[in-house]
Amino acid sequence: MLYDLIYKTRSYRNFKSSVKYSKEQIEDIINLCRFTPSTANKQSVKFAFACDDELCGKVFPLLHWAGYLSEKPPYNGNVPTAYILLCCDLNIAENPIEIDVGICAQTIVLGAMEQGIGACMIGSFDKKKMSNLFGLSDNLYPRLIIALGEPNEKIVITDIKDGDIKYYRDEDKTHYVPKRTLEELIIKHNK
Ligand SMILES: Cc1cc2nc3c(=O)[nH]c(=O)nc-3n(C[C@H](O)[C@H](O)[C@H](O)COP(=O)(O)O)c2cc1C
Repeated sequence: MLYDLIYKTRSYRNFKSSVKYSKEQIEDIINLCRFTPSTANKQSVKFAFACDDELCGKVFPLLHWAGYLSEKPPYNGNVPTAYILLCCDLNIAENPIEIDVGICAQTIVLGAMEQGIGACMIGSFDKKKMSNLFGLSDNLYPRLIIALGEPNEKIVITDIKDGDIKYYRDEDKTHYVPKRTLEELIIKHNK
């Protein structure tokens, strides 16, 4: 069921670093984005990726993980083994179409999870250094990077208490993600 897939598609930040992915596996996931909707059918989101140790090792230091946690994951070398970088092609759309990036990003993480590959969207990274690392031309603006790998952590969804949206970890490093209730999400109106 789609519900089950979405429920387990959490932001994973610890991975089995021994599990690697081929170029073809990553390209198959990116291929899903060809069939997503896009503003005025512009298809302005372009993709670069890394799935070899050398490039992944250079991507990792450019990323900022889990702003709410004082002890930053990944722990004990549980690093991602692939990355997909989502870029806005400014030759196609002058201003980055962020909604389209989001649609592609969620498509990628769902498609990955369907194959047992965990993901974490990362918006906080050094964009200039990332651009240089991938040798991007000036028209390609790196907006989001998705870390990928075999999940190696427990994540639990909870209902939000007292409006606190901050995720947290317990002493076993289980990760808890508070979610607003459906009642809170649905806007009440008079008619
Ligand atoms: C657009 C976007 C950017 C994000 N950027 C980061 C990031 O820079 N670093 C990080 O560790 N997590 C990042 N996240 C993951 C969120 O923290 C995560 O989605 C949120 O805590 C809820 O957890 P869940 O995805 O398991 O539901 C980002 C998520 C989104 C949608």
